[in-house]
Amino acid sequence: MTAPIRVGVAAALAAVLCLAGPLASAQQAKPAAATRADLRPIFVTAPDIAEGKRLADVSCTRCHGTNGISATAGVPHVASQRAPYIYAQLKDYLQGKRPQSAMTGTVTFLSDDALVKVSAYYASLDPPRPAPQPAKPAAPRPDPYQAGRALAADCAGCHGEGGVTETPGAPSLVGFDPKYFLAAMNAYKSGQRNDDVMKPIAAPLKEPDLSHLALYYALQKPARAKTPSAGDAAAGKAAASSCGGCHGDKGVASDPGTPSLAGQDAQYLATATLAYKDGSRKDETMKGVVADLKEKAMRDIAAYYASQQPQAPKVRKPLSLTELAERCDRCHGINGNSADPVVPAIAAQRVDWLEQVLNAYRTGARKSVAMSAMVSVLSDAEIKELATHYSRQTARAVTFVVLPNK
Ligand code: HEC
Ligand code: HEC
Ligand code: HEC
Ligand code: HEC
Repeated sequence: MTAPIRVGVAAALAAVLCLAGPLASAQQAKPAAATRADLRPIFVTAPDIAEGKRLADVSCTRCHGTNGISATAGVPHVASQRAPYIYAQLKDYLQGKRPQSAMTGTVTFLSDDALVKVSAYYASLDPPRPAPQPAKPAAPRPDPYQAGRALAADCAGCHGEGGVTETPGAPSLVGFDPKYFLAAMNAYKSGQRNDDVMKPIAAPLKEPDLSHLALYYALQKPARAKTPSAGDAAAGKAAASSCGGCHGDKGVASDPGTPSLAGQDAQYLATATLAYKDGSRKDETMKGVVADLKEKAMRDIAAYYASQQPQAPKVRKPLSLTELAERCDRCHGINGNSADPVVPAIAAQRVDWLEQVLNAYRTGARKSVAMSAMVSVLSDAEIKELATHYSRQTARAVTFVVLPNK
């Protein structure tokens, strides 16, 4: 007699994991996800799986569908999900670690042994079929950076190539947080900021063009304006001591709604400061601050800030769907076919569920260190795109080795 082969789901998955060669470097980027205390190998026999099916038919099928393929919005497919992941989730529901849901009541009535068997049963099933590809592939999302770059061609004549001005009086557009940039453009549109040059330029621009422009300039390499500066920068440094609290010591503001002044065209800075004082540019905060400044001090402060080094705001270049999915696949496996027992497979999962879960991680309703870091930077549009992408991937069955009967 040969000894029974002690190969369980976890071990089999570990073998799959080793084969996933190209992912090797990606695996290193993974945090402690794979060391969950409640991760356990699941060793089952054919009768265990049959018992799992019996339990599932009684307790799970009415929501998760026949064979673990859900036909209900908001209820995930569980067919061919990784068994240790299913088991860990059932424990999480049991212990209240996942938000209150239809699951909470269901699992309380099952023994630990039952949870193991039902997990193994669902893991052993054929995976769901992917959502159909669209008849006509959707046009790829326009690259917001390239869109901004195209629009910025009309601005370069006054604001300089890449937003570094060569025209005294016309500000550089580098170094601004997109929030300030958008507020400035909208102020020209609404007339709240009254400027005969910018008003007709801003008027026809709408979202998303404005955001594309703001992003383009935020991602340009900051450099000092290539314009002369008349004031006394050393005197300006002392006079600017009352400005640093909002605009930053060296003119790099940390609040996204406050403009950075570092490296800005000196003539523009002086004119803008005067405009706040005489009320032609309306802003309650700035009006009070500059009320007592003499024109010489304004020019000196302008010269000081103009001589400082501008910095790029903290803005991430948006990633394409391919680039995003590449990052997800580092943990979730090729096209969402996870080879790691504690990372769920997401290929061919329901699109509504994927979107719902990603939003839950983003709001913190569902907690996961690995996932909250990933999704915190995603936009609504990116979440929708990723959900659609993974729902359309072909799911591969788990390599599932059943122990010989006892
Ligand atoms: C009353 C309906 C209902 C029943 C019965 C039910 N489920 Fe669920 N199940 C849900 C819903 C809804 C969710 C999504 C909950 C959430 O938002 O976390 C879910 C989530 C899950 C998940 C998490 C999947 C994932 O990808 O994260 C697993 C695993 C699961 N169910 C397994 C089971 C098993 C096994 C049973 C039977 C023992 C069962 N469910 C019974 C409705 C049900
Ligand atoms: C004909 C020259 C000219 C063109 C073309 C032009 N601008 Fe301007 N822009 C100016 C001047 C002058 C100001 C300063 C106006 C003021 O004092 O409010 C300005 C101000 C701005 C500001 C406010 C900056 C700040 O520091 O508050 C933004 C933002 C801006 N322009 C964006 C653009 C964009 C985007 C385009 C292209 C779509 C553009 N401008 C085209 C001349 C121009
Ligand atoms: C309490 C915070 C605060 C202080 C202090 C402050 N500022 Fe400002 N400043 C702002 C805000 C907010 C804006 C944007 C207002 C707007 O949208 O017009 C601004 C705008 C400006 C602008 C226009 C920049 C541009 O790109 O259009 C200049 C120039 C300026 N400040 C100079 C100064 C100077 C000089 C001092 C010191 C004497 C100073 N500020 C002190 C908050 C402050
Ligand atoms: C660092 C590894 C890692 C990365 C990168 C990662 N995930 Fe996850 N993901 C996990 C782990 C671990 C879980 C299970 C967490 C839990 O128990 O709630 C998970 C859970 C999920 C779930 C829940 C599935 C379900 O059925 O409940 C979805 C959906 C998901 N990830 C999608 C993504 C997407 C989309 C990306 C890329 C934007 C991504 N993940 C990137 C590790 C990762």
